[in-house]
Amino acid sequence: MYKLLICNSTLSDKLFDPGCLHTSFGIRKEKKDHYTNVPRNANLEKLPKGYLFPEISLRQHQHLEQHPDASLISLGIGDTTEPVPDIVTSRMADFASGLSTLEGYRGYGAEQGNKELRKAIAETFYKDVNVKDSEVFVSDGAQCDIARLQLLLGSRVTASVQDPSFPGYIDTSVIIGQAGDLDHETGRYHRLEYMKCGPENKFFPDLRRTSSTDVIFFCSPNNPTGHAATRQQLEQLVKFAKDNGSIIVFDSAYATYISDDSPRSIFEIPGAKEVAVEISSFSKFAGFTGVRLGWTVVPSELCFSNGFPVIHDFNRVVCTCFNGASNIAQAGGLACLSSEGFEGVRTRVNYYKENAEILLDALASLNIKAYGGQNAPYVWVHFPGMNSWEVFDMILEKANIITVPGCGFGPGGEEFLRISAFGHRESILEAARRLKALFS
Ligand SMILES: Cc1ncc(COP(=O)(O)O)c(C=O)c1O
Repeated sequence: MYKLLICNSTLSDKLFDPGCLHTSFGIRKEKKDHYTNVPRNANLEKLPKGYLFPEISLRQHQHLEQHPDASLISLGIGDTTEPVPDIVTSRMADFASGLSTLEGYRGYGAEQGNKELRKAIAETFYKDVNVKDSEVFVSDGAQCDIARLQLLLGSRVTASVQDPSFPGYIDTSVIIGQAGDLDHETGRYHRLEYMKCGPENKFFPDLRRTSSTDVIFFCSPNNPTGHAATRQQLEQLVKFAKDNGSIIVFDSAYATYISDDSPRSIFEIPGAKEVAVEISSFSKFAGFTGVRLGWTVVPSELCFSNGFPVIHDFNRVVCTCFNGASNIAQAGGLACLSSEGFEGVRTRVNYYKENAEILLDALASLNIKAYGGQNAPYVWVHFPGMNSWEVFDMILEKANIITVPGCGFGPGGEEFLRISAFGHRESILEAARRLKALFS
């Protein structure tokens, strides 16, 4: 008896799993002696079979088979590469050693997070917009909070997403049952509203032509385009949500990369507390992609249609499905928000931004149009008229560089590639040199 086992999670931007390499397009046959009577969740069956990251892994693997000596540079995966500052790791190490002592031992903490950390997050990121400590919920990362928010919202709400967007919003909408069926021709789910965001509309949807939905997932600075929405754009978004009675799920995971005066939080926009929650993360800001720490702000002003405060239901979901972030990770998070720790993590953010500048300069010297990079660690490169997989293959074949084809982030990403600025400086300089050699 054989079963198909899907070898992937498209939610994640990190999956270059060597375990998938020996599989064919992420599907592995496993011999089993027994099948249960439990039907597979029909919503999971709706996720597309042509998964992005296993497909990238497969092409990478095939390339290495043909060119075993190729020195590959991976600028595909959105994972941090530079070490965490000493002050942060030593606080985590001290906390961990303390767990071996009677005085330092701690068991379960508050599900919502350590009080001191909630306060430090509110003071560091939301001082001018008066977010209260009690409105900050510490988590094990933004991705997990997206899933918990979907559990809170349920299957009956309608949702819209930016197109292109981080796959986590769409995939969790599919799993919870909001999205309907996939139209294989258009690459869109029937019940989702796709808000096209490209250079032609300054990466902001034409809201006059956007159908209203209950929930609007909006990420700024955006992954993959690197665009940070302007104050005026976010004012329009908040007004649109208010007029239509929607809730915005605002993802500010890359806010610390903003260099200009674009808002770093949706709560900088007057009235946003009545229409938005904000998810965020220590991952890309502090190199905590493996440590795991994030947070969600749910303002007490935000209510459902029956007047019930969303914060109470979110608290209930958190207390039911999550027993709090690791206390070691929280000790590290607190250290990141001390003045010395913050200085240290800022240095890393600036390093990645310099990487982005190197890539942008190289592309500009080739007259290749590229976006993002200034307020985000991603460079969004336009190859007009070209299929994004073809460009991916060409750059892999001729320059030994792994990127991500834009179509992997939604149909609106076709003709684009995402190049990540996460990487050691030598790799970025070498990638810039190879791109120049390839395209000049
Ligand atoms: C826009 C966006 N949101 C959320 C996440 C997930 O972050 P975390 O590592 O905190 O789960 C990512 C990760 O790449 C991301 O790009």
